Amino acid sequence: MIDLDLNRVGVPLKWPEIFGRSAPADVEIGSGKGKFLLDLAATQPERDFLAVERAGKYHRLCCDRAARRGLSNVRLVRTTAEDLLFRLLVGASVGRIFVLFPDPWPKKRHHKRRLIKPDVVAAMHSALIPGGRLLVKTDHEGYAEAISEVLAGAVGFSVLDAEEAYAGLPETGFERKYRQQGRPIYPFALQKTG
Ligand SMILES: C[S@@+](CC[C@H](N)C(=O)[O-])C[C@H]1O[C@@H](n2cnc3c(N)ncnc32)[C@H](O)[C@@H]1O
Repeated sequence: MIDLDLNRVGVPLKWPEIFGRSAPADVEIGSGKGKFLLDLAATQPERDFLAVERAGKYHRLCCDRAARRGLSNVRLVRTTAEDLLFRLLVGASVGRIFVLFPDPWPKKRHHKRRLIKPDVVAAMHSALIPGGRLLVKTDHEGYAEAISEVLAGAVGFSVLDAEEAYAGLPETGFERKYRQQGRPIYPFALQKTG
């Protein structure tokens, strides 16, 4: 089943149980309509992909699209990033974590809702395998500054050249729209050391 039912699988998540094989696995947080996830899964059939999306409408749309494309290496779970990171993932099990255009929550009183925070980045670090990557992009300058600060304070990562780290990866739906509008995009790429 593409739509992962958390009542029917063991927690924390074991990739062989979910995908029926042992392969490197990546995670996308906030996959939206799924353009990035599905394009990437189609071009990298040797890897498995789990995406979390909290909006039911996008989750269902993405499940339908994955099914139509016959992608056997994709699973989607309707839950939050926090549930995934603090409850569902096994430590040192993820090759890449993608957080692409997370909601910027531009109003100051809403900044606490932003996803990229020190405890969340520490949980991402725990979930990654040694050498695993955390890839984050935003179009929002203020959020980019905040992300930069949080990532600079994160322990156990080295900084990668973003252009190289994103080479060959597909665009997301938001990215395509923002590029067409000529908006700047701020990419971040970190690698777990050790
Ligand atoms: C701005 S959209 C970007 C979608 C896609 N990544 C793209 O670039 O086209 C952010 C997405 O993250 C989802 N989202 C926001 N906060 C989330 C959370 N805490 N857990 C899971 N999904 C979340 C939203 O529902 C939305 O679909």
